[in-house]
Amino acid sequence: MLDLACGSGDVSLLLQKALPTAEIIGLDFSPPLLAQAKARGVRQTIEGDALQLPFPQNHFSAVTLAFGLRNFADRARGLNEIHRVLSPNGIFALLEFSPPPPPWNLFWNFYLFHLMPWVAQQVAQQGDAFRYLAKSISEFPTPPALNQELQACGLTLLSTRSMSLGLVRLTITQKR
Ligand SMILES: C[S@@+](CC[C@H](N)C(=O)[O-])C[C@H]1O[C@@H](n2cnc3c(N)ncnc32)[C@H](O)[C@@H]1O
Repeated sequence: MLDLACGSGDVSLLLQKALPTAEIIGLDFSPPLLAQAKARGVRQTIEGDALQLPFPQNHFSAVTLAFGLRNFADRARGLNEIHRVLSPNGIFALLEFSPPPPPWNLFWNFYLFHLMPWVAQQVAQQGDAFRYLAKSISEFPTPPALNQELQACGLTLLSTRSMSLGLVRLTITQKR
């Protein structure tokens, strides 16, 4: 399995625990985060770009991607790469922020665009980073639009589940 944009390895570690006999590779383009993943116990890490994966086609039974697709410079290219490296009928599991339904979106937008950057600025002088986070979350496609993008890249929707009061969505697809 490939845990794409693994960062410091949260999902890779959960996968290793849940599937002790599976071979799991964590990939990210940030060497410091990969070093943290390694130090935390991720057995296999690879430095690489999700938009140009260093693997042959049909290589993985499953690909996971948590809170990374939002940051890809070219989403379609990333999804096409995922499709390429998955084996036929392989599974792609995506975890990503999702806008909550009205009226909760009003509270969420206030928190995202005002409260969170303000607190981040006061506590750690990180207001700009959190404004970028808010922008990337609000610009991410809605579930129906995302499903269309996945379909267009050869990934068929199997199931989708809203989590964390609708703020996060798990989307499971399969390679056609
Ligand atoms: C918010 S972190 C999520 C990390 C991890 N998946 C998690 O859930 O804890 C986003 C990660 O995506 C990585 N990333 C973004 N674009 C990437 C790309 N094109 N190739 C590889 N990694 C990428 C970043 O380096 C960062 O580690």
